[in-house]
Amino acid sequence: MKVLVIGPGGREHAIVRSLLADPNVSEVHAAPGNAGISKLVPTHAIDANDPDAVAALATKLTVDLVVVGPEAPLAAGVSDAVRAAGIPVFGPSKAAAQLEASKAFAKEVMAEAGVPTAMARVAGNAEEAADALDTFGAPYVVKDDGLAAGKGVVVTNNRDEALAHAQSCFDAGGTVVIEEFLDGPEVSVFVLCDGLNTVALSPAQDFKRIFDNDEGPNTGGMGAYTPLEWAPEGLVQEVLDRVAQPTVNQMAHRGTPFVGVLFVGLALTSRGTRVIEFNVRFGDPETQAVLARLKTPLGGLLMAAAKGGLDKVQPLRWSRETAVAVVVAAENYPDKPRTGDRIRGLKKAESVEGVHVIHAGTRLDDEGKVVSAGGRVLAVVALGTDLVEARERAYDGVELVHLEGSQFRTDIGGKAARGEIKVQTPGGPAATKAKA
Ligand code: AMP
Ligand code: GLY
Repeated sequence: MKVLVIGPGGREHAIVRSLLADPNVSEVHAAPGNAGISKLVPTHAIDANDPDAVAALATKLTVDLVVVGPEAPLAAGVSDAVRAAGIPVFGPSKAAAQLEASKAFAKEVMAEAGVPTAMARVAGNAEEAADALDTFGAPYVVKDDGLAAGKGVVVTNNRDEALAHAQSCFDAGGTVVIEEFLDGPEVSVFVLCDGLNTVALSPAQDFKRIFDNDEGPNTGGMGAYTPLEWAPEGLVQEVLDRVAQPTVNQMAHRGTPFVGVLFVGLALTSRGTRVIEFNVRFGDPETQAVLARLKTPLGGLLMAAAKGGLDKVQPLRWSRETAVAVVVAAENYPDKPRTGDRIRGLKKAESVEGVHVIHAGTRLDDEGKVVSAGGRVLAVVALGTDLVEARERAYDGVELVHLEGSQFRTDIGGKAARGEIKVQTPGGPAATKAKA
């Protein structure tokens, strides 16, 4: 099987790496890729957000499958163009990608499908925003309705700050979704969908804020680990039964079947499991950790999703190890990241047992050296027998990577490793689950 992977980031590097480990995958191409991807497979310098360009490349390369990584090409209709060219594609149509591209649309589908989520209101002006904020009370949650790379959400106790964020979205010609605040730990579950059937991957946890202890602004994600030993038993089945399958059924019913991965962002609140958001692609950097543990060949799974037939897939096989991904970000991320600096120590980092490096914002300079080219530059991914060992290895690797001014969080998986994550079951006392 010949596969073309679309996208420039860490998620795509991780996907390429896993595809290359699939015995049924004979050839992998990527577009546009990054420095790490270009060391593994041929890359093609096209505009990944241009549906015709992607379809033309896929046709020229005579690939059997196109895997679309990021949300922007999906929202631009890349999957539709590739499908129209007669090539199977892992990734939803433009219409189905609205589940991520519009938070208001996602809320509408969730309501139709009976999916548990935060109560929400759409606001189009300051008056409506103020009214919605006062209905739900503090902490205030204000979300830009469009695509914002994880950065369009403000959660604050300060009413003026909440109003100011809403106003900046109105000024840009947009609307906002204002929600009730959800307490409790967050979980990311990736559900493969073929339009009809669903298969869940192992849950992961992401760290969205830039600084330790969840301080500072939101980012695309600063690290992740998987599996979640503290997660309630039956969580994955609950997500399939109450969230993913009803959503897939509803999308089919609407005539816009969902093919690809439905990324369910959840909060395990004191009132039960609630959806925070849907994304229509793999999470970054969760994918770097999740795929590191997946033993079932990835190409076959993505093809089954693209062509239909996930119902015939055997139960997924996973490594017993724990995976941790720690993102190394450029100076000044998530604001205006500094780029163009040499990155050293990548080989040394990979010499740490269980460690590999996944590139995100990197490119090769004129001399063929790896330099930074984006906000989140790379992720050091480690496998270990447990979370404690995986963390140690990941951070040993991070210490060996040198990038001027770079930053990383020191607490990825820290609370979980210390058994400090509490899930409050509805009606019950707080339960702390620590793995013996
Ligand atoms: P989103 O772009 O919807 O994923 O939101 C980004 C982040 O904002 C989430 O990962 C949460 O940490 C936070 N967030 C979003 N919605 C809520 C909510 N209703 N209650 C509490 N936190 C939220
Ligand atoms: N890590 C969260 C996301 O990919 O949106």
